[in-house]
Amino acid sequence: MPLLPGEATLGVLGGGQLGRMFVHAAQSLGYTCVVLDPDASSPAGTVAQAHLKADYLDGAALAQLAQRCHAITTEFENVPARALETLAATRVVAPGAAAVAICQDRSREKAHFVASGVPCAPYAVLRSGADLAGVGDDLLPGILKTARLGYDGKGQRRVTDRAQLAVAFRELGEVECVLEKMLPLALEMSVLVVRGADGQAVTYPVQQNLHLDGILAVTEVPAPGVPGALQAQARQSAVAIAQGMGYVGVLCVEFFVLKDGRLVVNEMAPRPHNSGHYTMDACDISQFEMQVRAMAGLPLREPRLHSPVVMLNLLGDLWFDAQGQLRTPDWAAVLALPGASLHLYGKAQARVGRKMGHLNLIGPTAEAARDSARQACALLGLPAEW
Ligand SMILES: Nc1ncnc2c1ncn2[C@@H]1O[C@H](COP(=O)(O)OP(=O)(O)O)[C@@H](O)[C@H]1O
Ligand SMILES: [Mg+2]
Repeated sequence: MPLLPGEATLGVLGGGQLGRMFVHAAQSLGYTCVVLDPDASSPAGTVAQAHLKADYLDGAALAQLAQRCHAITTEFENVPARALETLAATRVVAPGAAAVAICQDRSREKAHFVASGVPCAPYAVLRSGADLAGVGDDLLPGILKTARLGYDGKGQRRVTDRAQLAVAFRELGEVECVLEKMLPLALEMSVLVVRGADGQAVTYPVQQNLHLDGILAVTEVPAPGVPGALQAQARQSAVAIAQGMGYVGVLCVEFFVLKDGRLVVNEMAPRPHNSGHYTMDACDISQFEMQVRAMAGLPLREPRLHSPVVMLNLLGDLWFDAQGQLRTPDWAAVLALPGASLHLYGKAQARVGRKMGHLNLIGPTAEAARDSARQACALLGLPAEW
């Protein structure tokens, strides 16, 4: 039985911007929303009908969340799997603890890619210093990544030889790590797959991503550099990965396209994703509404991209002028551009590197969308060489 709009209450673990946009989508459909997040001014907590201000492992708060909600989701992948298990004893939890636990751990994630038959970079798991000697020469130069808690390029070191590898392993705290072979990348892209509890899965068009300083900067759809056959392969691979872990909800799978044209899976996030924000204005259903539908047991339908789009990530850097003084970007000028839609996350304090919002620029053609996006970059002082 689906949880019907206008009747059911949906809960979110985590109060960040992804939770906020989920709440907006759920409320728009007619659901009531409850957010659990310790921060009194969290972006999602301030827009939900109820905000439980407590830690994610606070037993009383989890009990209240379960009591008030018919189904519960998460908006960041490092939510303790134990919290999800507790909630799942009495409520629908999507995605489930087992799938989230795979996505939280790079070595389990890689093993799942291999089991799903989707090629990833050659890698080795390092659990202690004793494992360093067993690393094959073919993995160097490589990237050493902590198995847990890495994001936006944090928790990684690039290494060219064994001496550097040993130093990097120490610097990362001798915690479990994955060493990946450094691959020659042509470009990076990602795919959103949505799977329902009944096993039905749909995918969105492939998005091409540009990262600057380890943080997503620009997403373009349709992906200009990815041949159609490779896009189809990525979408099929994302479905296989989601099916293989009985995933329910929106999953974002990141891929590399190598210089020789091969497709390699990199990592995945068990939630709507920054690179999927384009869906809010360029598709007939957003990734957040899909998350609502999947957890509520409502029908998923094939999403349709109705307009080419460029998404620009807006970091707190834009709120500072050349002298380091706070300023408000000239949104009126930006919003005068054809096809521009602004989404700010309601964060009171801008900080360098902090995700403050995003700007979608759609157009009747890819060229028109890119043209608007380049003008937006010029107005905002963002790099436009993409
Ligand atoms: N095996 C690899 N070969 C080449 N570049 C890589 C490899 N792994 C990661 N990178 C680069 O580092 C970036 C961050 O790595 P990623 O595993 O996606 O971590 P994060 O969790 O920080 O996003 C990637 O977007 C890509 O540009
Ligand atoms: Mg990544």
